[in-house]
Amino acid sequence: MRPIGVFDSGVGGLTVVKELIRQLPHENIVYFGDTARVPYGIKSKETVIRFSIENILFLLKRDVKFICVACNTVSSFALPEIKNHFRVPIVGVITPGAREAVYATRNKRVGVIGTKGTVKSRAYEKEIKQFDPQVKVTAVACPLFVPFAEEGWTSGAVVTTVAKHYLKPLKVAGVDTVILGCTHYPLLRKIIQDVLGSNVTLIDSAKQVAIEVNEILSNEGLLNKKGKGKQDFFVSDNPEWFSNLAQRFLGKPVRNVKKVNNV
Ligand code: DGL
Repeated sequence: MRPIGVFDSGVGGLTVVKELIRQLPHENIVYFGDTARVPYGIKSKETVIRFSIENILFLLKRDVKFICVACNTVSSFALPEIKNHFRVPIVGVITPGAREAVYATRNKRVGVIGTKGTVKSRAYEKEIKQFDPQVKVTAVACPLFVPFAEEGWTSGAVVTTVAKHYLKPLKVAGVDTVILGCTHYPLLRKIIQDVLGSNVTLIDSAKQVAIEVNEILSNEGLLNKKGKGKQDFFVSDNPEWFSNLAQRFLGKPVRNVKKVNNV
């Protein structure tokens, strides 16, 4: 049973794996987290493209049938370029998240939060405009949310103050829908919702990409319908660190993490 390949800059992509397991329980998954070079969110486009190509080459060696780019920064910066390099189908998180946001908004004002790289690329904005040019997009980078999620700081006074500061432009813009445009942000969902208010719809790009993967695999006749899928985890550094954080991002412990020297 050929696996789905998933990669991310580090541990955050496990939020996507969690959704893939939930929605596609029969699929085998090979995950690669580039923990030696994380974070990608502050790196240049050229560097993110180069790292992504190396990560895909690793996954192809594991005979994956399909590649899911879990990282929002890679999906924003590198997807068109990397798609040109490979024949294997590759899907990223931007299009599914953007489509769902356009579907969800009632006042045609959508907010996007992500890394500095994701916001700078304006990828979500461009994609949203493809679906509906009338939608007004306000995007803000929330770089401290990544270390907060990794350190387990998902509530309390410090996080609330930072969240209020970051999310203020979205409140001023009057958005009714906000895309959680970073692998880590589903862990901060509650605080983000509290700060924005219950009338704002949050779009989880991890959930949306899993729906898209399901659809593509079904349409291509590549979907596995039997058996319990298994997951293999590879990292470029610090497997223990990855294992320790995995529980929080995946919702279950991860023991079989192997370090590889492909990068
Ligand atoms: N995985 C990244 C993303 O979704 C966040 C962490 C990083 O900056 O590498 O954009």
